[in-house]
Amino acid sequence: MSAGKKPIAVVGSINIDLVANTEQIPVEGETVLGRGFHIHPGGKGANQAVAIARLGHPVRLIGRLGDDAFGTQLRRHLEHAGVDISGVATTPGSSGVAMITVADSGENCIVIIPGANAWLTPDDIEANIDIIRSSGIVLTQLEIPIETVEHLAKICAREAIPLILDPAPAKELPASVLKSVTWFTPNETEAAFFTGERNGTSELRDPSHTAKTLIGRGIPGIVLKLGSRGAFIASKDSLQERLSPFPVQAIDTTAAGDAFNGAFAVGLLLQKGPVASARFASAAAALSVTRAGAQPSMPTMAEVDRLLEAARAGDLESNNGVGERSR
Ligand code: RIB
Repeated sequence: MSAGKKPIAVVGSINIDLVANTEQIPVEGETVLGRGFHIHPGGKGANQAVAIARLGHPVRLIGRLGDDAFGTQLRRHLEHAGVDISGVATTPGSSGVAMITVADSGENCIVIIPGANAWLTPDDIEANIDIIRSSGIVLTQLEIPIETVEHLAKICAREAIPLILDPAPAKELPASVLKSVTWFTPNETEAAFFTGERNGTSELRDPSHTAKTLIGRGIPGIVLKLGSRGAFIASKDSLQERLSPFPVQAIDTTAAGDAFNGAFAVGLLLQKGPVASARFASAAAALSVTRAGAQPSMPTMAEVDRLLEAARAGDLESNNGVGERSR
């Protein structure tokens, strides 16, 4: 762990991703021929932790793995990526598994079988309370039990530790959780779930209106991840800013949202401020969609800096900018 930097804690899921590549995502009842099959380390919690480690920031993960062969493999990957896994416990049975279909467009769909992730309880948070207390920022998502997220939110509020909640996959959350998070980072589908504004497409009509609605529900800070349309950041202190996307060729959007969240936390701890941190995070997410797989796609600090510099110099070709719509 590098000296002088306050570590980040991630509380979340660890999955093995079983990925089928197809021309198009099949519709209900359809059988399609796949082009390839890959196994990658994944899980939103683990992905965010790896994103942070790749950017050179110390990170500790609190999670659960099964005692199966996937568990052993995933543990090894995390250690190799430089994630501190002293907070990762083992549960008898299977590790979390994600069945992912990635289409040629880069878009994906995911089915998750929680396995050991379902056994991450408030007791695990208590057992690792020192990790939480010594962190500069805590990140979590919704692939673990809601009561664990609730407990974590209570502790972060009590100890005044900023909490970034990625509400993925979207599910109802108690008002107490919404009020305790510092930054709430839905993609468009998730934002529509929390505001009830479905318009038949996955695109939000008016991100500024959506952000205002979410702030009205008591959430202090919002980052809307708008995929190929960039991002929108807003806070109760009347911050409102639209961030344009980075034009990149997307081949796999899996975990782009995780790249965004990990990088956003790193940016905030580097004192970049919320808008510059969101821009930094958009660049990390854009780079991640240019590579296959969840954790293998996470960029380094040098790569993110290069993309930001190229954008500043007006040196980017505009083709199909894709950010983090799907994960
Ligand atoms: O956000 C992408 C992740 O969602 C995948 O790695 C998969 O494991 C699911 O958790």
